[in-house]
Amino acid sequence: ALAACGGKSTETSSSSGGGEAKKKIVVGTDAAFAPFEYMDKGKIVGFDVDLLDAIMKEAGLDYELRNIGWDPLFAALQSKEIDMGISGITINDERKQTYDFSIPYFESTHMIMVKEGSPIQNALDLKGKTVGVQNGTTGQEAVEKLLGKENKNIKKFENTVVAIMDLLNGGVDAVVTDNAVANEYVKNNPDKKIKAIADPKNFQSEFYGLMFPKGSDLKPKIDEALKKVIDSGKYAEIYKKWFGT
Ligand code: ARG
Repeated sequence: ALAACGGKSTETSSSSGGGEAKKKIVVGTDAAFAPFEYMDKGKIVGFDVDLLDAIMKEAGLDYELRNIGWDPLFAALQSKEIDMGISGITINDERKQTYDFSIPYFESTHMIMVKEGSPIQNALDLKGKTVGVQNGTTGQEAVEKLLGKENKNIKKFENTVVAIMDLLNGGVDAVVTDNAVANEYVKNNPDKKIKAIADPKNFQSEFYGLMFPKGSDLKPKIDEALKKVIDSGKYAEIYKKWFGT
């Protein structure tokens, strides 16, 4: 899948004057997670995409963003085929054993998406129901905590868009995903008659970070640039563009 995305991460190009080779940073994402990253007219757009651009401009780094998918993103970072990931990725202890993370840039929690009229009203109501999650996400973990890890009623999907499609088609009774993603879908698709249910008692808060291979020397540079993007008001500007406040 990576090869199909073009170029290789070690590609270099000479800078105009000094003869000093400048490496293009390769960033991976799973662009099926609006409003953070999604495809629009053949382009990857979203909150993360704008934030990444601001960070890289601030840091003075050349980069290229590739839509490689969620599971491949983790593999490509571990093998150092790519340099960095931005994809609404939650910082947690398990991932920290294998990857490095930037400072946090976004607070999130989970929500339950159901069809209007569904008897499901909170996380505990998911017991005995079929629940769709994106494979390998913290949403999967949250549902496993509620229903048990080996529960056959948990259906894992390659991305969040196909999980939501299965909900529309009646394949699952609910989908558990990140709150901003659930809210965005409901807002943009009133005709689909889906609602998003919060349950702060059963879903914890978590934070997104940019993810790196362990020991990456890019991390300190990105942290510094991200801090500046936050302090300068640029972050607030991007936030307003995507979340309206
Ligand atoms: N925040 C969740 C996690 O890290 C879900 C992220 C999914 N992101 C995506 N672009 N599909 O596990």
